[in-house]
Amino acid sequence: MNGRLQQWSVFVVCLMIVLRTESFFVDITYVQSAVAKGAVCLDGSPPAYHIDKGSGAGINNWLVHVEGGGWCNNVTTCLARTKTRLGSSKLMAKQIAFSGIFSNKPQFNPDFYNWNRIKVRYCDGASFTGDVEVVDPATKLYYRGARVFVAVIEDLLAKGMKNAENAILSGCSAGGLTSILHCDNFKALLPVGTKVKCFSDAGFFINAKDVSGAPHIQDFYNDVVTTHGSAKNLPQSCTSRMKPSLCFFPQNMAQGIRTPLFIVNAAYDSWQIKNILAPGVADPHGLWHDCKTDIVKCSTTQLQTMQEFRLQFLNALSGLGSSTSRGYFINGCYAHCQTEMQETWFRGDSPLLYNKTIAKAVGDWFYDRSPFQKIDCPYPCDKTCHNRVFDQQEYPLV
Ligand SMILES: *[C@@H]1O[C@H](CO)[C@@H](O)[C@H](O)[C@H]1NC(C)=O
Ligand SMILES: *[C@@H]1O[C@H](CO)[C@@H](O)[C@H](O)[C@H]1NC(C)=O
Repeated sequence: MNGRLQQWSVFVVCLMIVLRTESFFVDITYVQSAVAKGAVCLDGSPPAYHIDKGSGAGINNWLVHVEGGGWCNNVTTCLARTKTRLGSSKLMAKQIAFSGIFSNKPQFNPDFYNWNRIKVRYCDGASFTGDVEVVDPATKLYYRGARVFVAVIEDLLAKGMKNAENAILSGCSAGGLTSILHCDNFKALLPVGTKVKCFSDAGFFINAKDVSGAPHIQDFYNDVVTTHGSAKNLPQSCTSRMKPSLCFFPQNMAQGIRTPLFIVNAAYDSWQIKNILAPGVADPHGLWHDCKTDIVKCSTTQLQTMQEFRLQFLNALSGLGSSTSRGYFINGCYAHCQTEMQETWFRGDSPLLYNKTIAKAVGDWFYDRSPFQKIDCPYPCDKTCHNRVFDQQEYPLV
């Protein structure tokens, strides 16, 4: 090969890598100014986020997406959390990969690629609802998630979000729940003229009994709300009607949210199957173990139980209300969080519902091009699913 041809080949190979790379790394930003406001992670460290700035026509558009990671429900589990990235910004990776809804390429993220895209790190353990003034000198635990939420939004407003034309609050899992719980608060913090909508990925956790008949998730959420002092920060339209801890469930509080809201959720959400329907305590002999790691390993009776769970999920979803400002994309998959990964957000082989990818359904809804309120047929009818298969080792018995 002559020199010119070699150079050209190297150039073409590099170009192909750049075009095909589905993710890139973004540095962490610590919100130091939050510390003086007492808006800190469980261990007292500053909150943090990752931001990739918008460009061109997207320069005044802001996507604020909240990271997930379950909850801590008492001193023991919250203390354990301070030893992880989910309780301390000191332990967070300095860079994380952006893809899917965070992608900066139109071919991977057609409607939001040029927006300001922010991933807010989760480090309070209560979906950003906690606010306890007192810090126990023995444990030194800070329950301040609600303050963290406001401090992060204020920091982003100062960085240019005060000029936002379009803004979305979104999130995955516990962050998806945050995007529902804080939707109206987010809208209220933004300028009056900003078009604001919220969108929850895998955050519609339902109040279902576990396979032993116990109200496991209801008791767990009650502990979370009590430990973190969350009651005063949950939507008042709900807490005025029922016990605050029940207002952690979207089925009870989503209808009272005034800002437009979109729900993306698998009907057989793998986190919910593992932790709400068949948690370890409800399955002492581990009969559900294989089924929870891979849906194709479920027995006929287990699948029947999961079909009943789907019906409970759809019944709970009616708590969203039927207004066309509501959108939903409920696929019949065994999955959890489908927006942050390229393969489930927008790619040739991504999940489809009525021929639309999640990215297209959400984009069309946000820009008022078309509403989207669709529910998939029951498992195993949908051949576009990316059903999760969990590694036996990575899979903790909860
Ligand atoms: C804290 O919560 C965990 C998980 O639900 C539970 O196993 C443990 O017994 C609780 N600890 C205390 C001290 O209440
Ligand atoms: C989806 O698109 C394919 C190919 O474009 C078409 O044949 C099919 O009828 C569409 N299905 C639905 C449900 O719209």
